[in-house]
Amino acid sequence: MLVPRSAFNAAYLPYLTASQRVQIFYGGAGSGKSVFLAARALLDAMTGRNTLVVRQVARTLRASCFAEVQKSVARFGLGDWFQVSRSEMSLTCRHNGAQLLFLGLDDVEKVKSLTPGRGALTDIWVEEATETRWADLKQLDKRLRGLSAHKKRLTLSFNPVSRAHWIYREYFGAFPETEGRLVQDDLLILRTTYRDNRFLTADDIQALEGERDPYFHQVYTRGEWGQLGGSVFTNWQVGMPPADLSATWLRCGLDFGYARDPAAAVLVALDRRKGRLYALRELCQSGLTNDLLALRVKALAGGLPVTCDSAEPKSIAELRRHGVRALAAKKGPDSVLHGLQWLNQLQLVISPDCKKLREEVLAYRWAADGQGGFLPRPEGEDHLIDALRYALESDSLARDARALRR
Ligand SMILES: Nc1ncnc2c1ncn2[C@@H]1O[C@H](COP(=O)(O)OP(=O)(O)OP(=O)(O)O)[C@@H](O)[C@H]1O
Ligand SMILES: [Mg+2]
Repeated sequence: MLVPRSAFNAAYLPYLTASQRVQIFYGGAGSGKSVFLAARALLDAMTGRNTLVVRQVARTLRASCFAEVQKSVARFGLGDWFQVSRSEMSLTCRHNGAQLLFLGLDDVEKVKSLTPGRGALTDIWVEEATETRWADLKQLDKRLRGLSAHKKRLTLSFNPVSRAHWIYREYFGAFPETEGRLVQDDLLILRTTYRDNRFLTADDIQALEGERDPYFHQVYTRGEWGQLGGSVFTNWQVGMPPADLSATWLRCGLDFGYARDPAAAVLVALDRRKGRLYALRELCQSGLTNDLLALRVKALAGGLPVTCDSAEPKSIAELRRHGVRALAAKKGPDSVLHGLQWLNQLQLVISPDCKKLREEVLAYRWAADGQGGFLPRPEGEDHLIDALRYALESDSLARDARALRR
């Protein structure tokens, strides 16, 4: 390599030549994403790759990515290698003709007619990708066509502003947030924070660490997907359970359903010491008669007791007859609110296998009061969430009893 490894932050070095079709670099502010991607695009051009750098608004590109790439030229002493056109906003490698082109998505016509001087477009880097719409990104992606010896890549960089964002829904289904990294054949996701950037000044670090607003702290300091007001579950992430999970932590809950509503059951593990709750496996299906449901629940829970919705004593009796250790939930007054409050004190880690539960948790919100605030009434699908409350009912009640005694 022409440029020494010490010019890069270590977290990014393994991805200098990563070839996944979709690559996502996201995280907190000042984590070194833009500097790395600008430097990489430049070095890529020296190997013949043509990169289109886009942002939603053309006007913002000049001072950000275009300026950053030029800084890399200077930092790496590559002035002789590149011809810079300020009016066109492009760089051309003098040795092989490869280009870096900069375009705003607001300039639709230009995007449509764009072609690099030599060869096909091999790379698109969308900076601050949360600004772009899904449909625009799909259109852009189509630009990656034409013959090339290089593998085509779409790279997105951004701060994780909201879990409700389409990027989260589209790409983060299997992302283990606890680890902050996903490396698959066609998808790479890397989360970084200011801690990964050794070039920051003490002032920068202090400003980020001193951030008081919980939302800004979450998104820009910790680099985690932001939760805007109204979500019932505020402390959760997708991740794998620990290897040393104990059998005594296992719990199972079941919410009945048949025609309109599905029957829903969830297997969880409660680590009391760490205050963590792992959702391990789920069952969510309509049209199951009680004998079929019993089979499925036994497969999920093994011999564990299963705490069930108490509104259906007949179904509980039938499950028992089929060998499920079904118990009726107690459901005191205010049990929903109380159960949710208790759950929210735990850190919920949802396995990538529990897709439905993740969807419910994501969409479960407090009802709006019409004046910008919220009512203590949750809204949204809650089959698996109910099952989760039932699974932990005795834990939540036991803890309350202890708290009262104190
Ligand atoms: N490899 C590097 N060499 C020198 N300085 C660096 C390097 N990486 C980052 N920096 C410094 O850290 C600052 C922040 O990095 P960068 O702008 O890449 O962060 P970012 O992750 O894009 O942040 P944001 O999310 O706010 O856009 C840069 O302005 C630069 O001063
Ligand atoms: Mg940046």
